Amino acid sequence: MEGCKSALFGIVGRENVTTDKAELFCYSFDASIHSSAPDVVVRPGSAEEVPRIVRYANKKKIPVVPRGAGTALCGHSLPWNGGITLDMTRMSHIVETHVEDLYVVVGPGIVYSTLNAALKPFGFFFPPEPGSADVCTIGGMVAVNASGTKAIKYGATRDYVLGLEVVLPNGRIVQTGSRTIKNSSGYQLHRLFVGSEGTLGVITEIKLKVAPLPSYVSTALAAYEDLEAAGRTISNLIKGRMLPAALEIMDKTCIQAVNKSMRLDLPEVNGLVIIEFDGHRDTVKDDMRRAEEICRKENPTLFTSSDDPVERERLWAGRKAVLPSMSRLKGGQVSTSLADDMIVPISKIPQLIHFISRVARKQRLVIGTYGHCGDGNLHAKVLFNVRKRDAWKRAWKACQDIYKACIGLGGSLSGEHGIGFTRAPFMGMEHKTELDLMRVIKRAIDPNNIMNPGKLSLDFTPKTFVTRLRYPVES
Ligand code: LAC
Ligand code: ZN
Repeated sequence: MEGCKSALFGIVGRENVTTDKAELFCYSFDASIHSSAPDVVVRPGSAEEVPRIVRYANKKKIPVVPRGAGTALCGHSLPWNGGITLDMTRMSHIVETHVEDLYVVVGPGIVYSTLNAALKPFGFFFPPEPGSADVCTIGGMVAVNASGTKAIKYGATRDYVLGLEVVLPNGRIVQTGSRTIKNSSGYQLHRLFVGSEGTLGVITEIKLKVAPLPSYVSTALAAYEDLEAAGRTISNLIKGRMLPAALEIMDKTCIQAVNKSMRLDLPEVNGLVIIEFDGHRDTVKDDMRRAEEICRKENPTLFTSSDDPVERERLWAGRKAVLPSMSRLKGGQVSTSLADDMIVPISKIPQLIHFISRVARKQRLVIGTYGHCGDGNLHAKVLFNVRKRDAWKRAWKACQDIYKACIGLGGSLSGEHGIGFTRAPFMGMEHKTELDLMRVIKRAIDPNNIMNPGKLSLDFTPKTFVTRLRYPVES
C-alpha cells in the first residue's frame, strides 16, 4: 500500500490521495443496501492524470472503481474487493458550450442541476432529470444510462450522449462518437460505454446534446380508488396519441408514506396519476383539456391541474419525496432498493403492480410501488426489518418472483438505475443470449479485470444480493 500511495502522490499530489479510515468508511456507501470500502481514494483533477493512474493500476492489477456523487442504488460505485476508488467530482467543468450546435462538452463530475442552471440563461437544458438531480453527476448518469420523470417524452441519457472521451484499462485515451447530432460512421462505440457502469474504462469528458427549454408547463393530478381504472387511464392517454412530458403513478403505500413524512394531504387511494405537458401554451392547454376528458372517463375521486409554478411544485411534492419517505412509514422497517427499477411494456404496468402486491402478501413484506408508468418503469421499495435474517430470505424470494414476472411480461431488470451488484444475480435471467457477448467485450477491453470488478455479472455471478450488507443482521 505504501508503494501504491507514493506512486499516486506522484500523479495527483498528496492532497488528492487518502487512506484515512474515516474517509474510506464514507466511500464504502452509496444509496444501496451494500457497504464495501476501498483501500485508497484518488481524486484526479485532469484528464491527463487519469491514464497514469489507470496504467499504474493495470500493471499492478489493482481494481479501479470510478465514482461520481455515490447516489447509485445498487452498489455500482462500491469496490467489491478493495482497490482504488476514483472520485471524479473534481473534474466538474463545463468545457465548451455550443447551444447553436445543440451540444455542450462537460467533465464527468459536474452535477446535473449545476449543468442545467448554467444552460438556463441560454434557454436550453439536458432533460433526463433523475430523482437525484440536485446531487448526481453527469458521469454517473452516463455510466448507468440514467433518466427520470421526463423519459417518456425526452428519452434517457443515452439519447443525449454524442461522444465520449474514455480512458481504457491500458491507459489509452479514446475519443468516441462526434460533435454532431447524428452520425452513421461505424460502430456507435460511445453507446457501448453508456450503461457500462465503469466496467470498461473511465469517462473523462462528455459531449452532450441539449434541448430547448419549454416555454409553458402544466401539471395534473388524478386520483383513482381502483388501480385498474388508473391503469386504463394511462393506456387511454397513450392510445389517445398524447405525449406527456411526465406520466407517473403512486400506490397507496407510497401515498401514505409521503403523507406521513411530509404532512401532505394527498388522497389515500389505490392509484394516483400525475400528468404533465410542456411546450407551446396553446398546445399544452389543448393537450391538458383532452387529458382531463380521458381521465374523467374512469371516474377519478379527484382531478386537478395547474400551470402555476408554486401549485405545480405542490402537486409534485409527494411524488418527489417517495424515496426518502418510505423508511418513515412503519417504525423499525427500512426501505430497500431490491426490485426497485423494473421496466415492462407500458400496458403491462397494472399487471405488474398487482403481481407485486400479491408477492408482498405472500412473503409478509410491505412493498410500495410507484414510478414512471408512462414509459413502463416501476420502482418497488421493499420495507422490512433489515436486522432479521429471515426477513432477508423472504425479500430475496420476493425479488426472484418479481424479476421473473417482469421478464415474462417482456420487461427488463432496470429502466434507469442500472445493475451494479444488487441485480447482478438476475442478469442471466434477462440476457439469455447476450450476456456471453457482454463478457467477450469486457475481456477484450479489460483482460486484467481491473475496471469495477464484480458488477453486471461479467466476471462472476453472485448467488444472492444478501451479502456485504450495510446493516448489522442478527444471526
Ligand atoms: C425516482 C427515482 C428513485 O424516480 O428513480 O424517484
Ligand atoms: Zn425513477
